[in-house]
Amino acid sequence: MQAKTLTWLFVGIVIGLVAGYAASLPIQNSLQAKIASLEEKLSPKYVEKIKARGKLIVGTSADWPPFEYVDKEGNFAGIDIEIAKKIAEALGVELEIKDMKFAALIEALRNGQIDMILADMTPTAEREQLVDFSIPYYFSKGNAVVTTKDRLNEFREVDDLKGRNIGVQLGTIQEEWAKENLGDKASIVSYDHVYPEMIMALKRGDIDVMVVGDIIASVIIEKDPDLAIAFYAGGTRIGAAVAVPQGAEDLKYVVNSVLEKMLETGEMEQIFKEEIAKWLGAGS
Ligand code: ARG
Repeated sequence: MQAKTLTWLFVGIVIGLVAGYAASLPIQNSLQAKIASLEEKLSPKYVEKIKARGKLIVGTSADWPPFEYVDKEGNFAGIDIEIAKKIAEALGVELEIKDMKFAALIEALRNGQIDMILADMTPTAEREQLVDFSIPYYFSKGNAVVTTKDRLNEFREVDDLKGRNIGVQLGTIQEEWAKENLGDKASIVSYDHVYPEMIMALKRGDIDVMVVGDIIASVIIEKDPDLAIAFYAGGTRIGAAVAVPQGAEDLKYVVNSVLEKMLETGEMEQIFKEEIAKWLGAGS
């Protein structure tokens, strides 16, 4: 009698357990799906996505030699393009360059049109709110104030820029510097592109000076004997880094590995030298 009761009790428990488990299955499944989507949000798989696509899409603003420009054959060329090739190679995929105005790059990265930015972009606190940056791959002397050679004596320091027309590229740290330091004392004219727009404006006399990065200034004046660097002002020591989407840790890891290797082996220095020489020799 007692054994029978026990048996029934046992059977009852087993049935209860099986039924309970079966009833909890949908909950478990939906829970698992939720965890998966949460994981995806916490560490999205950027590298996997790029590999599956078979192509790395890099955004740039190809008006800033020797970092990025369009060569005479119509191809994208320059230091950043060479670095981009190395990153694509490390990922084992093709490279596609998307050219746009500098001021549009961060938005394009944030809405997924491009995988990363290589545009001699300087990491700033403001930009860090919107994108993540790799380690820096170049250090800078700061901003260069460029004018025409015949007017070199007129411009020796920031004060000399008061009341003048100052050209900058839209969305750059040079624009920010000019607005902060001379916004109410001079007229700041922002251009979408440095090449050819802003250079032509300077040569025509529409603007008295233009404020650009140190390396682009140094190659511009070599190539164009009518132009000269008046002085350096503002800017940051950290020149440029690669921008990736916020939280794209997997992609940042690949980019940093490539950059570290290039910096350590001297390959980066070599690329800077070669690309500067190439652009200077390109005669356009
Ligand atoms: N380094 C400056 C900045 O980050 C200017 C970069 C402009 N780059 C370009 N490709 N036009 O604001």
